[in-house]
Amino acid sequence: MWNHAPSANTTFTLYHSGSLKATMPTAPGAQSLLCLSCHDGSAAIDAYGAQATGANYISTTNRVGYGGDLTKDHPIGFDYTSTLGSAANHLNSPTTVVAAGLPLYANLGASSHTLECSTCHTVHDPTITPFLRMNNAGSALCRACHTY
Ligand code: HEC
Ligand code: HEC
Ligand code: HEC
Repeated sequence: MWNHAPSANTTFTLYHSGSLKATMPTAPGAQSLLCLSCHDGSAAIDAYGAQATGANYISTTNRVGYGGDLTKDHPIGFDYTSTLGSAANHLNSPTTVVAAGLPLYANLGASSHTLECSTCHTVHDPTITPFLRMNNAGSALCRACHTY
């Protein structure tokens, strides 16, 4: 399934806000683009491999990034630096986050820690719906990073 047609959206608008400390990149990382190829609804789910076009699209309830719009979704693609992950910003350090079982990726250079869809989701393990890496009861998933 990873031999999938890429998203028809060539650009994405990521989340931004006046209070965000993170430096937002211009595009999601590779791991997120894999998800968006199906989830933004621009390429058919069954368009992969030798089959260039398909007929079945993701349901509207599971659509994320439709039209390249990720402005209402959790920020992704940025470097979760150790400066960002500090008590002053009410965030755990990237080392603590990774140790808690939430992977960060080296998309922006060998020592970078980027946050992608698969930081929170693990699509090969359905134990915690919807494919979450951690049960979010009491906001436990959020609080693995956010300290308030
Ligand atoms: C080949 C296409 C495809 C790719 C690639 C893909 N998904 Fe999905 N995903 C689906 C389909 C189809 C569903 C079920 C949608 C439905 O029932 O309407 C789904 C459902 C989900 C759900 C909801 C599960 C639930 O229990 O409700 C999540 C969360 C999800 N995907 C996350 C991801 C993430 C994260 C990635 C990237 C790591 C990803 N998906 C990659 C096709 C894909
Ligand atoms: C910061 C953690 C986090 C990140 C990053 C994240 N998700 Fe999710 N996602 C969640 C949580 C938590 C839920 C469950 C929300 C609920 O139950 O209301 C969810 C729900 C979903 C669903 C189910 C439908 C819905 O909208 O509730 C899909 C599909 C999905 N995510 C796909 C993605 C994709 C694709 C990406 C990357 C573009 C992504 N997620 C990034 C935490 C995350
Ligand atoms: C893997 C770590 C991680 C997880 C899990 C996570 N976040 Fe975040 N979140 C961050 C980081 C890092 C930022 C960027 C903070 C900044 O730049 O000020 C952020 C930003 C945000 C923002 C934007 C804040 C602003 O100032 O605009 C919101 C809202 C948010 N997260 C809510 C949530 C919620 C709700 C959950 C749980 C469903 C969650 N987060 C899970 C790490 C995480």
